[in-house]
Amino acid sequence: MSTTTEERLIRPARNIVGSLRLPGDKSISHRYGMLAAFAAGTSRFTNFSTGADCASTLACMEALGAKVTKTAENAIEVTGVAGKVVPAGHPLDCGNSGSTMRMMSGLLAAQDGSFTLVGDESLSRRPMERVRKPLAEMGADVVLTEGHAPVTIHGRALKAVDYTTPVPSAQVKTCILLAGLQTEGTTTVREAIRTRDHSELALRAFGAKLTRTVDSVSIAGPQALHAIDAAVPGDISSAAFFLCAAALFPGSNLVLAQLGLNPTRAALLDVLTALGAHIAVLDLEEKNAELVGTVQITSPPEGLGSTTVSGGLAAQLIDELPVLAAIAPYTSGGIRIRDAKELRVKESDRIALVVKNLRAMGAEVEEFEDGVDVPGGQTLHGATIDSGGDHRIAMAFSVAGLRAEGETLIQGAESAGISFPEFFDLLDRVAER
Ligand code: S3P
Repeated sequence: MSTTTEERLIRPARNIVGSLRLPGDKSISHRYGMLAAFAAGTSRFTNFSTGADCASTLACMEALGAKVTKTAENAIEVTGVAGKVVPAGHPLDCGNSGSTMRMMSGLLAAQDGSFTLVGDESLSRRPMERVRKPLAEMGADVVLTEGHAPVTIHGRALKAVDYTTPVPSAQVKTCILLAGLQTEGTTTVREAIRTRDHSELALRAFGAKLTRTVDSVSIAGPQALHAIDAAVPGDISSAAFFLCAAALFPGSNLVLAQLGLNPTRAALLDVLTALGAHIAVLDLEEKNAELVGTVQITSPPEGLGSTTVSGGLAAQLIDELPVLAAIAPYTSGGIRIRDAKELRVKESDRIALVVKNLRAMGAEVEEFEDGVDVPGGQTLHGATIDSGGDHRIAMAFSVAGLRAEGETLIQGAESAGISFPEFFDLLDRVAER
């Protein structure tokens, strides 16, 4: 656990203008890194995520026998273990990364050997029963510590399962698919709300065969993976902070090139459009089955309107909800968020921290177990923000600070590095003052 915390001062801005190419998507980088490390051969990636989370995935896979080499700025080569990891002989440190811990649990449950997965203080509080349960149904030996990490896995041959996920979670879906990849028979994951499908697309890109229906995905194992070369699309969840910042100012004009626009990730563009922002998507193309394009956003002179995010939309937008809540006071009609209880078990209790920090800035906000009501038409003042060591809270309130009166001090600003180390520098580049 880090004991030093960095503070960042956010000064108000006039608008957001410029053109950026953002670092690689965190979700896709985790999957490309993990699958390449498991595959046979050497994969090459450009624009790989620069976040500490993906570095945790790579470090764990290196400890399990894969070879990772940095070849250029944000470019890596990964030589895989050809389907058979080497037990590390020490705990695998997943850092702050739930994706690393949950997805790797599935990968390792079907391998020979014993593995212990540990994480930082935040990750050690997060629920892991959601991966233990389906893996146990497959016959895996996974032991938790009161429902949390450390996760101890004694790998063995598993049996195929047909599993319906009780909470929408792409990490859990991936965990089961990675176990199914190595297991005789057909493993099926059913989900009531479709979560991000990067694993399905990545597994296919690495040569695996999967079948999909509207609400399920099946994999017949065992299957081998081969290496690939890929450019990772820009991270739309990182872009969310810039898109929301731009939407706040009628004078803004921001272009984000080579952005990942996978339909299971791009719901923010619809929500911002519903709020009144003007969004144009240019140069749409497909790379390894992922949609990539250039997005231009401008904001209407009359400002943003109002919207409700609930049901399946809340699950699809889960990582973008903190920043949407943070800009909500500046809309005319406010933003209502419901069906987002999962926010309480992310890197922090994101509902509690959104409410605490909005109130610190003088906003009126009502807290619900599964969301918030933030009225519009409010004027906020700069304040000291408690990020709770959560990257998305630190960045969300940096955006809120751009339109506040006075300066905003972000405590624990270094947490942005979990997904987006370049955040503050890039914000300074496009924020006109
Ligand atoms: C992720 C899935 C989501 C998301 C997280 C990344 C992924 O978590 O919040 O930031 O890459 O699969 P859940 O699977 O817990 O919903």
